[in-house]
Amino acid sequence: MHKFITYSLIASVFIASCTTKQRLNSSVEQPSTFNKAAVVTAHPLASEIGVKILKQGGNAIDAAVAVQFALAVVYPNAGNIGGGGFMLYRDHNGELDALDFREKAPLKATRDMYLDAQGNVVPELSLYSQLASGIPGSVAGMWEAHKKYGKLQWKDLLLPAIQLARKGFKISQRQANEFESHKDRFVRLNPSGAAIIKTTSWKSGDLFLQEELAKTLERIADEGRDGFYKGKTADLLVAEMSQGKGIITHQDLLEYQAIWRSPIHTNYRGYKVISMPPPSSGGTSLLALLKSVEQFPLQRWGFQTDSTIRVMVEAERYVYANRAKYLGDPDFVKVPIQHLIDSSSNASKLHAFNFHKAALSKEINADIIPGYESEQTTHFNIVDAQGNAVSITTTLNDSYGSGVFVAGAGFLLNNEMDDFSVKAGVPNMYGLTGEKANEIQPGKRMLSSMTPTIVEKNGKLFMVVGTPGGSTIITSVFQTILNVIDFRKNAQAAVSLPRFHHQWLPDHVDVEHNAIDANLRNQLAKDGYTINQRGAIGRVENIVVLPDGKLQTGADPRGDDTAKGY
Ligand code: GLY
Repeated sequence: MHKFITYSLIASVFIASCTTKQRLNSSVEQPSTFNKAAVVTAHPLASEIGVKILKQGGNAIDAAVAVQFALAVVYPNAGNIGGGGFMLYRDHNGELDALDFREKAPLKATRDMYLDAQGNVVPELSLYSQLASGIPGSVAGMWEAHKKYGKLQWKDLLLPAIQLARKGFKISQRQANEFESHKDRFVRLNPSGAAIIKTTSWKSGDLFLQEELAKTLERIADEGRDGFYKGKTADLLVAEMSQGKGIITHQDLLEYQAIWRSPIHTNYRGYKVISMPPPSSGGTSLLALLKSVEQFPLQRWGFQTDSTIRVMVEAERYVYANRAKYLGDPDFVKVPIQHLIDSSSNASKLHAFNFHKAALSKEINADIIPGYESEQTTHFNIVDAQGNAVSITTTLNDSYGSGVFVAGAGFLLNNEMDDFSVKAGVPNMYGLTGEKANEIQPGKRMLSSMTPTIVEKNGKLFMVVGTPGGSTIITSVFQTILNVIDFRKNAQAAVSLPRFHHQWLPDHVDVEHNAIDANLRNQLAKDGYTINQRGAIGRVENIVVLPDGKLQTGADPRGDDTAKGY
């Protein structure tokens, strides 16, 4: 037995180091570069549609609207019309805007709605049921974005998605595997047979047809936001609620509004890093992380060296503790954004940091703990030929959201209500618990980690970046920015290189299989760090503007993600 473990360890170290070397030299580190415009998304067909809209004379917002609807067809894990998200926008003159189309708790929601009569959390009620859905925001978000900045006709932006839904597209091997692994859940949650991902065996190359979704998209194309929040689609959605214990009403749908917010930003080593304000915790936490590590010579230390990892992990520990304590929907709770980002307070926490010993999370604000976000989300970036840039992260929360399809309308509903703290102090599936700032209230937006981000250098567009990954979103964007700015990696390598993550609680460092070399892992373990090897962390999309104005792209090889452009 002992011998087996020893051999396994040696073998895995050998494989890990070979894999790292191969990855460093392989095509997954080579960026695609485009002269004028680029679109990077989780699916090749969505990227293609974005480019097509740009070539038709659309701007980055037009392309983003078309991509959002296309992803609802070709990437139903997270692409959606039944979910929500956040958009960051920088126009070619440097004007900034941020759009919050996060879901909201229905008006009938109550703080204890997921508890039984004894006050215990009812398993899965906030995850896999009609009751798990917040009021969807994506259609309102796209409608607002287009109304303010779009150039092409709204209808024309929906057309490619409608065609794809009606004519179908061939699923990839990865998608076939995902459909297969989720179909039991779909059957269980859709007894009426509404699940369009049927119980047949799926294989790569199968045609995926979605006629009901095509019709819903046609209603949205014809009637704009009213095609979703009123009329037949709204009737079908409200009717779906009555199949379970759902509480979304016509009034909830009518009253839902996406909100324009002011982006937040900070200076990091001379670069202006711009990101999403609350109710996402992403931007605030990202900027706080950057300000925490700015005092250290990361470039001299190098990528994933001993000191670099320790500093990043300790910064993450402090920033996630603060995130837990202070972040929630700014329309309901006061969030001290500037204090949280402030460089002096973050830097001072790391002054006493010991390079030879892990700090203990339980000794840091141990009484207040964060909410949980699932890891299935999607991100896309677009830069058009004029230099307008869009960074959007959008989600249903879990993979395929609640698993509930709106019968007759062909789309999946989110299970975003689980991003609230369903009960203070009760651990969720990740062993984390929640607190007051993020408790359920009617009309409130649940806390998110989505971190759509744009970076400027010398007042010009430099980088557009974001990722899915729940609570790992923030640290994945953080690492990608450091990879480009500090470690001088190209746009693709910055995305492909292995990642690690710490989020205060649980007190361990999550590592991808080829992140952090084996000797260093051993040393960190000796110094009190718990290393937790896990699967892929995030699926980052990245665009970097080169000094000659060309667009270098990074699409994450962890998925079917693809960069296209011209
Ligand atoms: N549902 C994932 C997030 O909003 O962070």
